[in-house]
Amino acid sequence: MHVMGKSPLKPRLVLYGTGQFGQRIARLAVEKNWPIVAAYNRAGPKVGQDLGRLAGLGRDLGVIVQDCETASYDVEADIALVTATNSLRQNMPAYKRLIGAGLNILCLAGQAYYPYGNEPELAAEIDAMAKKANVTFTGSGIWDTSRIWSGILVAGACTEIKSLAHRSITDISRQIVSQEQARELAVGIPAKEFYEKGYGDALISLLYKTIPEHVLAAIGYTDIKSTVRLEPVVFDEPVSLALFDKPIPPGDCVGTRIVCESVAREGVKATAEIELRLFKPGEVEHMVWTVDGMPKTQIRTERNDSAHASAASLFNRIPDVIAAQPGIVLVSQMGPLKHTALV
Ligand SMILES: NC(=O)c1ccc[n+]([C@@H]2O[C@H](COP(=O)([O-])OP(=O)(O)OC[C@H]3O[C@@H](n4cnc5c(N)ncnc54)[C@H](OP(=O)(O)O)[C@@H]3O)[C@@H](O)[C@H]2O)c1
Repeated sequence: MHVMGKSPLKPRLVLYGTGQFGQRIARLAVEKNWPIVAAYNRAGPKVGQDLGRLAGLGRDLGVIVQDCETASYDVEADIALVTATNSLRQNMPAYKRLIGAGLNILCLAGQAYYPYGNEPELAAEIDAMAKKANVTFTGSGIWDTSRIWSGILVAGACTEIKSLAHRSITDISRQIVSQEQARELAVGIPAKEFYEKGYGDALISLLYKTIPEHVLAAIGYTDIKSTVRLEPVVFDEPVSLALFDKPIPPGDCVGTRIVCESVAREGVKATAEIELRLFKPGEVEHMVWTVDGMPKTQIRTERNDSAHASAASLFNRIPDVIAAQPGIVLVSQMGPLKHTALV
């Protein structure tokens, strides 16, 4: 049951999706001594396993992964963490079940950070459902600090803003765990197939444009219109990825570049150039926001463990989501993320 403004010292968690990130969240919860009261996954080999064993803890937690289609959602918990898919539409059955059970939702889907920019009708439906059930719906993950809050903060010191620009390179070898995930980012396909096979229509074209949209909206701009295109990223040298038995040759895709431009009614533009790709030796993952204004300012985030950052950002938002008002509440409306190092 939702109690606005208060978060318990030891929030009781439900996990929906027990893959790479669901297991990371399970390990963080055990480390912080926050109870996990139930775990759900679609049918398959994870169902029936103890979550502790599945998450590599080497011991039982007494939480058996249940089939999300057939399980009971009659649980006493404060929040459900959804780490199933990147898509609001695909996650809708999960949201309906969990909101129906009176649970706040914190979701790792990329589309959940700014649902209005992805699926406005679904966003309205989720917002109405959550308000009716008196629970909060929030999307978070690595973008929380590196892409959303860094953009808000860099603009905060300006008295004039002409435009904003976001650039990043993300080392996807740290996050992709299947050939399917690699293919979604065009890794390993010949560059000429990039356009022929319609990678330009992928979910990520919708997803990433919401970064400039979210930041512009969060700093007060209105009526934002965006364009977005996807491009193949290729290297002129071979590069290896553990998932492939031989190196990706020069000229084949090592990832995808997303190029977006969002313009607000007030005339201010935010651009984004985001590369999700393999890295050459020595490259460091980074995200940059620059403001052309008065004064000109730049914030750069560098990190060497984006998978941990994604899981930790989600995990660290738990208290804010439990304490927030009902309905969709964006991370940009919650204040900067706070660490859990002292928990
Ligand atoms: N927001 C961010 O910053 C951010 C960062 C990283 C990742 N992500 C996204 O977060 C999602 C989870 O990532 P991951 O690496 O943990 O993926 P993963 O290892 O594939 O885990 C997903 C888990 O959810 C289960 N699942 C998939 N679809 C489901 C459904 N419709 N209903 C119930 N369970 C379902 C899968 O079941 P199986 O056992 O059948 O595989 C799997 O156990 C991905 O979509 C990823 O793109 C977002």
